Amino acid sequence: MTKIFAHRGSAGTHPENTMISFYEAERVGADGIELDVQMTKDGKLVVIHDETIDRTTDGTGWVKDFTYQELQAFNAVYKFANQYGVCRIPLLEEVLEWISPTSLLLNIELKNGLIAYHKLEEKVIEMIKYYRLESRVILSSFNHNSMARCHQMAPDIATALLYMEPLYQPWQYARLLGASGLHPYYRTLSPLFVQKAHANQIAVRPFTINHERLMKQMFEHRVDAIFTDYPLKAKQVKK
Ligand code: G3P
Ligand code: CA
Repeated sequence: MTKIFAHRGSAGTHPENTMISFYEAERVGADGIELDVQMTKDGKLVVIHDETIDRTTDGTGWVKDFTYQELQAFNAVYKFANQYGVCRIPLLEEVLEWISPTSLLLNIELKNGLIAYHKLEEKVIEMIKYYRLESRVILSSFNHNSMARCHQMAPDIATALLYMEPLYQPWQYARLLGASGLHPYYRTLSPLFVQKAHANQIAVRPFTINHERLMKQMFEHRVDAIFTDYPLKAKQVKK
């Protein structure tokens, strides 16, 4: 049965990568949540998609140039400001603490493609272990070297490879890097692709599936999960 991961929370209806977006995902019955992690100047893990705060907050500048305390000055609700007032950029730790007593799955995407944050992998893994969430977390990244490192450091935490362009026999590549999942751009998928990945014990979780027609197609292809900004809609389509 295909699982539904709320992409950046319920990002189609609520401010992405904020606690209210995650609460909404749980409220509508998503199976899991996807979020993005960057690191501040003082080494704190924060949940934000971009390397800069320009698009999603009322501030401007690079995440890496602010301390966590400084980042708290900015409102992370951007286009939903009239509806939700003020909302801060969450710490990864806040999300882990909240998710811990729930049964939600969690996909933590490491945003280390453009910036090589110092010890990002080590810090994320340490925090997952502290909250004993190893069995409910999937780590992913477009940086496949980083995923191979994560697997070496913590073989008990699932890793997955994100990618945009078609890859040659990606299920073999995934196995080589110790990854148990492929997170491809949905256009690179076919039913045969899913069958071959499954034959190699590799899970397939495409992104980002927002339209009803596409949701139906992915459910028919029997992918393991979809990432969607509209978890409520996906739940209704899946029924
Ligand atoms: O993990 C799936 C998806 O989130 C990857 O792309 O840019 O939305 O982080 P992006
Ligand atoms: Ca992401």
